[in-house]
Amino acid sequence: MVIASDVQAIISHTNKVVYLEDFEIVFVKGNDVKFFSAAGAPIKKEVVTITWTADQVEKAGYKHFMLKEIHEQPRAVAAACAPHVDLEAKRVKLSDVGLSDEQLRGIERVFIIACGTSYYAGLAGKYLIEQLAKIPVECDIASEFRYRDPVIPPRSLILTISQSGETADTLAALRLAKQAGALTLSICNVRASSIDREAHGHLYMNSGPEIGVASTKAFVSTLALLNLLSLYLGQVRGALSVKDEQHALEQLLAAPSQMEAVLAYDKFFAEAAQKLKAYKGILFMGRGINYPIALEGALKLKELAYMHAEGYAAGEMKHGPLALIDERMLIVMVCPSDRNYEKTLSNLEEARARGGRIISIGTGDNHALKAVSDHYLSLPKAEWNVNPILESIPVQLLAYHVANAMGHDVDQPRNLAKSVTVE
Ligand code: AGP
Repeated sequence: MVIASDVQAIISHTNKVVYLEDFEIVFVKGNDVKFFSAAGAPIKKEVVTITWTADQVEKAGYKHFMLKEIHEQPRAVAAACAPHVDLEAKRVKLSDVGLSDEQLRGIERVFIIACGTSYYAGLAGKYLIEQLAKIPVECDIASEFRYRDPVIPPRSLILTISQSGETADTLAALRLAKQAGALTLSICNVRASSIDREAHGHLYMNSGPEIGVASTKAFVSTLALLNLLSLYLGQVRGALSVKDEQHALEQLLAAPSQMEAVLAYDKFFAEAAQKLKAYKGILFMGRGINYPIALEGALKLKELAYMHAEGYAAGEMKHGPLALIDERMLIVMVCPSDRNYEKTLSNLEEARARGGRIISIGTGDNHALKAVSDHYLSLPKAEWNVNPILESIPVQLLAYHVANAMGHDVDQPRNLAKSVTVE
């Protein structure tokens, strides 16, 4: 018998798990185990078999779990998509989500609630759901949402995102929303975690165990699921033509193989890290759906390299951050060829004119970006809904290699825990 707060800790011992609910009591003696309610009455608990295996929690030759998990991302995206795609019809079909089409059709507003990296995935979800399903979306940090007396109108869907499914603030926000009578849907990686158990509907990242404190594969899996959810909402509500849905889906299904190509930037960042770590700070910028990737890139750098970094909507530069820029500041501009491209390029030129050193991330062989950048990182051609999945890889690799070059414990950054189960 092993008692743990997280299944990851015990996979090497067993795949049979019993989840305790709040206030339940367990009595363990040798191989004997008994469960009781808070009132002391004996209760019967279900033994759940988990599908994760012990070799998934090995480093498999990688120096760190984080690097292994970065390289697992193409598989993670494919695994997140697999259950929800009707390959013959080339349509999205959310399977086992636990919410009926009628419930999904009735939604008039979506609130996305999460913390940290999951929140940034949620921000990208706002762009996807609004554009593909035409439903207004608010995205909130769980610790803000739960304490601001949120107004949750009838016919709202509360979408909570959590890799661990145990984040205290996200769980509390979910409970608050349920009390207010809202329909809830969770996106989790850990099945049968508290958030997964308590939400009405469920989507699973299927990323396999994520051990590194810095979330990577769970992030891209969530981006894939948010694509599918948006496409399905668009489909059931008639907000999206079949042709547009099929095109967006086709693009999404091409992402895993495109991601393999982007992983080749591992070498670039391993070599560049010594120079990159010398900057006084890094400003990550992007527009539209790429803005959350800028925020995520900055968070990764802060948590792993303990370096000052900011994520900014590129259009906001003139309203303050331009003053930060000089030759000791590195700018990472996420600038794919989408509807915001021209505007982002002009923001990049402004940053360049102030002396900033530039790494730009764009689509294909882009001469204009090359001309204004110290380093240009080319991504495969993809639609706007898929670009963030590809862009995530270079910003993760940057943070990983800079932190590694600084000699930091990449998998367990100081002051941080993988599951934040307290406020
Ligand atoms: C990400 O790299 C972080 N370690 C952190 O922001 C994390 O995403 C956040 O604590 C939320 O965790 P969750 O997805 O398990 O709820």
